[in-house]
Amino acid sequence: MREKWVFFDLDGTLTQSEEGIWNCARYAAEKMGFPQPAEETLKKWIGPPLIWSFQHLMGMTEAQAWQAQEYYRERYTTVGKYENRVYPGVRRMLRALKRGGVRMGIVTGKPEQPTRDILAYFGILRYFERIACATDAKAEKEHLIRSVMPEEPAEVWMVGDRRFDMEGGAAAGVHTLGAAWGYGSEEELRTAGAERIAFSAWEAAKILCPDAEMPKGAFLSMEGLDGSGKSTQMEKLTGTLERFGFEVEHSREPGGTPIGEKIRELLLSRDNMEMTDVTEALLYAAARAQHVRERIRPALAAGKVLLCDRFLDSSVAYQGGGRRLGVDQVLALNALAVEDTLPLAVVYLDLDHRTSLRRRSEASELDRLEMEKESFHARVEEGYHALIARHPERYVVVDARGDREEIAKTIAAAVLEKLMAAEEKE
Ligand code: TYD
Repeated sequence: MREKWVFFDLDGTLTQSEEGIWNCARYAAEKMGFPQPAEETLKKWIGPPLIWSFQHLMGMTEAQAWQAQEYYRERYTTVGKYENRVYPGVRRMLRALKRGGVRMGIVTGKPEQPTRDILAYFGILRYFERIACATDAKAEKEHLIRSVMPEEPAEVWMVGDRRFDMEGGAAAGVHTLGAAWGYGSEEELRTAGAERIAFSAWEAAKILCPDAEMPKGAFLSMEGLDGSGKSTQMEKLTGTLERFGFEVEHSREPGGTPIGEKIRELLLSRDNMEMTDVTEALLYAAARAQHVRERIRPALAAGKVLLCDRFLDSSVAYQGGGRRLGVDQVLALNALAVEDTLPLAVVYLDLDHRTSLRRRSEASELDRLEMEKESFHARVEEGYHALIARHPERYVVVDARGDREEIAKTIAAAVLEKLMAAEEKE
């Protein structure tokens, strides 16, 4: 069968790599005794072959440029290559193209080892069947494209963010799509003869595969006793996931929707001390039913990662355990609210109730639930542990008393593994 092939440039197209590249260019300049390159110079750095940049952007002789390239690579192959991020929407684009039957490859001016290391680090190496990388002898895109050209393809595209990608693609006789989200301007891409231009990775996906379907997003929740550091860890996790190209939205329970926020006021207000335990459990479930439909499902349908501060587990722990309504009763009561919308992973910040109490009492004003006695919070803690024991595979349990940065690293590693495993199963 004749197939459609798409070749992607790496830097500036799939990954936003200026941090590492610029740090290495600065390092090479310093080692060579050249003045530090200006911001304007660095902006032009990404895309052309290194030797060309050292000569034409830093004013080196050819011999100096080869020496500078050695220094550059010394830093790049160890640290520079990971000072990098995947552009928003790129993961979604790759997933959709793969599902649409498009075959993919990489054509890059980078050497092979860092190229493979970067793709593997971000968990996207498996999308690419052919990889063409620059060698010292051969760096022109035209030759690189020709070296991986399929035999009798139905259609071949080169996608890149600089004129070198567009010119190389045209010279090799393939279609060209300019990635205007990268380092080259729209004008540069048009002048270089780009057949099509896309301003986002998703727009590119629709051009390359018009009937591409939106891949499903992922739902994550963060749980723990009050004072376990959920907000801090949500921010840190979001930062890491975004660096890996996941598009993250935040929400919280109770709340996350206008109706849910009104219910939240009812639940947390100290004016409502006469609220019965069953009323309380039903109100949390009611807020959740609205949240699932108005916020969570639409985010998942749009391919986003929805990260929620508390979800169903909180009801099981607080109402099931704390209020003694029972784990199974609270699950039953929530069944209609959530149906099959359950988190792919629940991060549990494990903090014993005494430490939680101590941290809470340092906070300014307590809400209705926070005012509860120590025994209530002890039962909440037990409730969480009962749930985790039932389905350990759904949880990422982390000791919340450790160092914040270490906690963040542990959570990120475990969550990334789950997200990537879910992508691989598609
Ligand atoms: P919030 O101020 O968001 O607390 P935190 O910052 O600790 O998350 O208040 C939410 C409170 O509601 C918190 O004490 C836990 C409680 N809660 C339940 O009892 N059941 C639930 O289903 C949910 C979602 C929260």
